[in-house]
Amino acid sequence: MAKSTSYVPDIERLQKVRKMPLVKLIAEVANLKQRETYIIGGFVRDTLIGRAVKDIDVVTLGSGIELAQEVAKELGKAEVHVFKNFGTAMIKKGDFELEFVGARKESYRSNSRKPIVENGTLKEDQERRDFTINALAISLNGDLGELVDPFNGFEDLKAGIIRTPLDPDRTYSDDPLRMMRAIRFASQLGFEIETKSYESIKVNAHRLSIVSQERITDELNKIILSEKPSVGFKLLDSTGILEMIFPEFVALKGVEKRNGLSHKDNFFHTLQVLDNICPNTDDLYLRWSAIMHDIAKPSTKRFQPGVGWTFHGHEVRGARMIPGIFRRMKLPLDMKMKYVQKLVNLHLRPIALTKESITDSAIRRLLFDAGDDIEDLMTLCRADITSKNDGKVKRYLQNYGLVQEKLIELEEKDRIRNWQPPISGQEIMEYFGLGPCRDIGTIKTALKDAILDGIIPNDSDSAQAFMKEKGEELGLRPKK
Ligand code: CTP
Repeated sequence: MAKSTSYVPDIERLQKVRKMPLVKLIAEVANLKQRETYIIGGFVRDTLIGRAVKDIDVVTLGSGIELAQEVAKELGKAEVHVFKNFGTAMIKKGDFELEFVGARKESYRSNSRKPIVENGTLKEDQERRDFTINALAISLNGDLGELVDPFNGFEDLKAGIIRTPLDPDRTYSDDPLRMMRAIRFASQLGFEIETKSYESIKVNAHRLSIVSQERITDELNKIILSEKPSVGFKLLDSTGILEMIFPEFVALKGVEKRNGLSHKDNFFHTLQVLDNICPNTDDLYLRWSAIMHDIAKPSTKRFQPGVGWTFHGHEVRGARMIPGIFRRMKLPLDMKMKYVQKLVNLHLRPIALTKESITDSAIRRLLFDAGDDIEDLMTLCRADITSKNDGKVKRYLQNYGLVQEKLIELEEKDRIRNWQPPISGQEIMEYFGLGPCRDIGTIKTALKDAILDGIIPNDSDSAQAFMKEKGEELGLRPKK
């Protein structure tokens, strides 16, 4: 498979680094103190391929903390955050975060992430890193900006290859999260994972179980935020990682056929919906809504003779599955989760609207239920069209266009978005001199429905009259 990256590395881009005042200052301090020092890792990689970078990792022979303190002095009162346990120090300077560390050789115990660390040479430090493209260093001594590349990282960057400096089994066993990082870089950069490395991930996938969920989810989110997340998801799947971290997603796979009737493969459909939504949003949770929209299809699937395959209620059940998945993934359980639940719950509503005539009442209800998230819901629905039949796609999009026109028209007229009925439950209770009870709920719902259905106008007088009438029907009397 050819790489699909749009990144073209260029060594000339290092010229810019040489002129950066911050880099020049670190180099001056390092030379003054006679410290062999390099910039290493993501900064070098991203500079070479022309991606924006804000984190600069500095590696020095000897103590990184001491060098950070010397640099901070020169920067004038910059605060140094020291992480003694890791032997690292961090300085924030403007938009940049500078991280200092002493060159190390280290290995991890097989059952823990806690490293045994010893001082090492630059080469030893480079070889303990995850990928050749992340082991590239530039020298801050002598010929400032010279590329130090013992593992041919630059060639791999050019070829678009993710390769470990050492035997992949060793690199991945040092920190199993690196298997997800490999897939994340493949997805972000459009690179290919080298065969030995890919095979090693398949064999070692189970070792992710020693990695914290927070770190796993962090990488998964980065995959979701990449330009074409399906690349990452397919790799997670084929290596066995997806089954470990997100079995509900793997359960979407497969096509069943009965009496000559089949349904689409919801795994690939969902991935296509996810890719489709990406050009229209960088919002992580709108992308998560695309991932979750059909998540309950496997558990709601039925075959109805004469009808075919149905997935009745998958939107409601899907919304209910979300808290469990979010909790396990250590994703936020706040408004963001509620937002994903809401979109999953509502994702069939605009489609249903296109099938019948698009009535004002149905549109008002949709606006009422979706509130400020109505545009995001429409973005999800558009991404959900994955039919290969061009005619069908055109028809759906035209229908959505109509729904959208009507939404705008009604919103201008009625202002239903974020709307609350003109009489609250409290006011109804006070009028009839009652506490919370079923009758109050009945009146409240009937009032909301009457306004949304256009039976009565959306004003206080009409609402009062309706409340009194409905109360009478239920045998209630106003409080004297
Ligand atoms: N690194 C590693 N193994 C890890 C994490 C990081 O070897 N599990 C090394 C790599 O050399 C990496 C550097 O530490 O380039 C910095 O790590 P980090 O900031 O997490 O990643 P970046 O490569 O900078 O990429 P990004 O900022 O996109 O996460």
